[in-house]
Amino acid sequence: MVTTDRETAFALKGRDYLTIADFTTDELHLLLKQAADMKALTKKHIPHPYLSGKTLAMIFEKSSTRTRVSFEVGMYQLGGSALFLSSRDMQLGRGETIADTAKVLSRFVDGIMIRTFEHQKVVGLAEQASVPVINGLTDEHHPTQVLADLLTIYEHEGRLKGLKACFIGDGYNNMAHSLLEGAAAVGMDLTVASPEGYEPDQKIFKAAEARAEENGCHVAVTHSPQEAVEGCDIIITDTWLSMGDENEQEKRLHDFQGYQVNDTLVARAKPDYLFLHCLPAHRGEEVAASVIDGPHSIVFDEAENRLHAHKAILKCLLESN
Ligand code: CP
Ligand code: NVA
Repeated sequence: MVTTDRETAFALKGRDYLTIADFTTDELHLLLKQAADMKALTKKHIPHPYLSGKTLAMIFEKSSTRTRVSFEVGMYQLGGSALFLSSRDMQLGRGETIADTAKVLSRFVDGIMIRTFEHQKVVGLAEQASVPVINGLTDEHHPTQVLADLLTIYEHEGRLKGLKACFIGDGYNNMAHSLLEGAAAVGMDLTVASPEGYEPDQKIFKAAEARAEENGCHVAVTHSPQEAVEGCDIIITDTWLSMGDENEQEKRLHDFQGYQVNDTLVARAKPDYLFLHCLPAHRGEEVAASVIDGPHSIVFDEAENRLHAHKAILKCLLESN
């Protein structure tokens, strides 16, 4: 069945944004198109108050630079406002339930963005809230980041379908999981190379594998970074030590030896490969400074695109008509 942009836009209204897998390929493409439109308006300084008078509550149980600033600035540019709520200062941090928090916030605001640990907490919040809930990162998923990543890749390559990408590093992390879901949805090959014991979640991988097959692409897992990078258009990595993993620092730095994205590794990719990293980066650990600060790196375009991607998500979910 062919759906029009109008029907797709209608289907997005009032929805939650919890994982990439929740969205059809048409919906993701519409979000990407809206993000490009938002970017054009922003660059031309054309006012676009689509969310005039609306408010977004932003709950943070983990640190953030990009996510916090881009959602806050995004709401402002859309004519609305955002509230930064640190869980340390909320009653949530003193044991108030997520259900009560969801019900109360829904009486005050038009949308809730949350960054937390267990993905299930966000699912619970979304079930109890009567306004859209946006996942600003959990241990398992980072779907707002991956929308920005897809936008960035599209801008530089002019396409997503048919590209060959790899993710080198911690496969059992939010970025690897959302990238698997994103690549499978848009028809991009993705190979995840991780040390033993750090492979992606099996359920997420299997679902992505099935969706990739439907969309004519392929997702795979290997222990060999060399194999994963071979002939790639896109190389992606992320920290070896995600938020919440701090007490495993010594073990992880040991286990991830050999998985650094450096000049020797990237020599196996296509000569015009692009490098992405959601940031914050640790030069000398998951990536060599020569790569992340080199000519193939598009990490700051990627960071900027958080703003435009988030504005697209906010507009599509929260706009009244
Ligand atoms: N990439 C990302 O989510 O950055 P922050 O942790 O700074 O929000
Ligand atoms: N995987 C990282 C992403 C940070 C934006 C983390 O969860 O800390």
